[in-house]
Amino acid sequence: MASIQSPLTILGIESSCDETAAAVVRATADYDRPNGTILANVVVSQLELHASYGGVVPELASRAHIRHLYPVIRQAMSQAGVQFQELDGVAVTAGPGLAGALLAGIAVAKGVALAVGKPLIGVHHMEGHLMSPFLGQQPLHFPFIALLVSGGHTLLLLVRRFGDYQLLGRSRDDSVGEAFDKGARLLGLGYPGGPALSLAAQGGDPQAFHLPQVLLQREQFDFSFSGLKTALRLLIERQANLLEDPLQRRHLAACYQQALVTPLVIKSIAACQQLAIPRLVVAGGVGANQQLRQLLQQQAQQRQIELLFPALSLCTDNAAMIALAGLLRLAGGQSATMELNARARWPIETFVQHG
Ligand code: KG4
Ligand code: ZN
Repeated sequence: MASIQSPLTILGIESSCDETAAAVVRATADYDRPNGTILANVVVSQLELHASYGGVVPELASRAHIRHLYPVIRQAMSQAGVQFQELDGVAVTAGPGLAGALLAGIAVAKGVALAVGKPLIGVHHMEGHLMSPFLGQQPLHFPFIALLVSGGHTLLLLVRRFGDYQLLGRSRDDSVGEAFDKGARLLGLGYPGGPALSLAAQGGDPQAFHLPQVLLQREQFDFSFSGLKTALRLLIERQANLLEDPLQRRHLAACYQQALVTPLVIKSIAACQQLAIPRLVVAGGVGANQQLRQLLQQQAQQRQIELLFPALSLCTDNAAMIALAGLLRLAGGQSATMELNARARWPIETFVQHG
């Protein structure tokens, strides 16, 4: 892929789960060192809508996306001070995610692209997360190891350059975000579980209870989290009234959080060392976790590994990352037709090479 020097301006649209987002990003398609400028980044969260159900209700999500998409796009365009005609393309998350939710974004993106006569680009949500560190102030260059930790995925990747990814490891069962959410539910905490659990764990003793450390084989980079959730459930079931004591609950939350983040830390640092790539990027919603950040910072510093976290607002779902990934795909000559469809399941395997 050759670099294109003049900057491109892309409208990004994201509606794969419970956030309706639109963003305008401008960047030159420099494949060695992409560097996007966010002109606008608007996110409307559906948290409150789903909170009382304890999880995302797909039908409600689709309806809310349909309601919010147009105002969110209009707001992003007006904040960016960009006219539709000035856009070079419209990028939209095509998968993976909830089918109805994805379709809402795709339908609107098609409408905009068709109306203004600009190319449409279908983006893989995880490639979006992977590009999010290039939207910050801290310079980053390839290659790097990426720990992608979201509600749906737990992946360790070698990112050689844009579009060239090698899968080093993944969760064999629940994603770490799912494990946070399920654990929070067992502890009687709110939704979404990740932030609620890390808040509940504050000041707790991570050694107070024994939970198994699931590392599988140390030299391999796969993860497993579902056993930990079962261990937590058994602990709660065996000790009646455990959760009624606020201090015990805090300790338990701290232990569970520690058991979830420790394998992430050990394996991502090990990947940097084994592959001799002293550069680690953490992206996705769980990347907002302070405990994960602190432990990684300590380990990375000791081993002279450069560590980069996108800003919190870019860790969780947003459309700026979709715009940047779309921009780079477009500059590489890839765009979609009006036949673009939602790919609720879009395995990362079709997208990356195995280690
Ligand atoms: O990347 P993301 O916003 O959406 C997906 O693409 O899935 O990730 C959402 C996940 C949820 O499981 C949520 O509980 C978790 O990220 N999460 C956190 C924190 N903030 C969000 N997990 C742990 N600690 C946090 N502070
Ligand atoms: Zn995501």
